[in-house]
Amino acid sequence: MTLVSTSAPGSLFVIETATWRDLNALRHLEQVCFPQDAWPLWDLIGILTLPNVVRLRAAMDGKMIGFIAGDFRPSENLAWIATVGVLPEYRRQGIGEALVLACEQRLRVPEVRLSVRVSNLEAIHLYERLGYQKAGYWPAYYQDGEDALVMQKPLNAL
Ligand SMILES: CC(C)(COP(=O)(O)OP(=O)(O)OC[C@H]1O[C@@H](n2cnc3c(N)ncnc32)[C@H](O)[C@@H]1OP(=O)(O)O)[C@@H](O)C(=O)NCCC(=O)NCCS
Repeated sequence: MTLVSTSAPGSLFVIETATWRDLNALRHLEQVCFPQDAWPLWDLIGILTLPNVVRLRAAMDGKMIGFIAGDFRPSENLAWIATVGVLPEYRRQGIGEALVLACEQRLRVPEVRLSVRVSNLEAIHLYERLGYQKAGYWPAYYQDGEDALVMQKPLNAL
């Protein structure tokens, strides 16, 4: 578990491994954070239980306020950040950044990648700030036809 203080004075949150017990909270967070792309229940169960996934929650006073999942691809020697979200009322306090950095630390691969809607400037700012670079586009990747931007970052994996 990692204890982190937010940029809001006096607020502390923890980053810890998420488990199947977080399913309902994760379902709520996904629906709030991804109104267009929320994952179906079975995908959420999978992300909380399957092997080769780093799953971390940010929690304040026991309540899940953020979540990230990193998906190992050992055969490709890389990992994908599959999802990251922070509840709106807790944003711009450093929680998203802390989740990404904590996930990267646990991904023992030389490179991490992610995809993001080209219109999602908040997330793209966050990733660029953390050293991710644009690596390509997936045209019409999302159901509504929007393109995905693919970003990647080398990690100092052991
Ligand atoms: C993207 C998301 C996870 C960021 O979480 P967060 O806790 O607000 O992020 P942080 O507070 O750690 O922000 C870190 C940096 O990211 C950038 N950033 C975050 N939100 C931003 C915004 N609304 N506008 C511009 N830059 C932003 C800034 O550089 C920020 O640093 P700063 O606050 O010192 O300027 C959050 O906005 C979210 O859950 N969005 C909905 C879900 C989503 O789009 N996830 C990504 C899908 S790929």
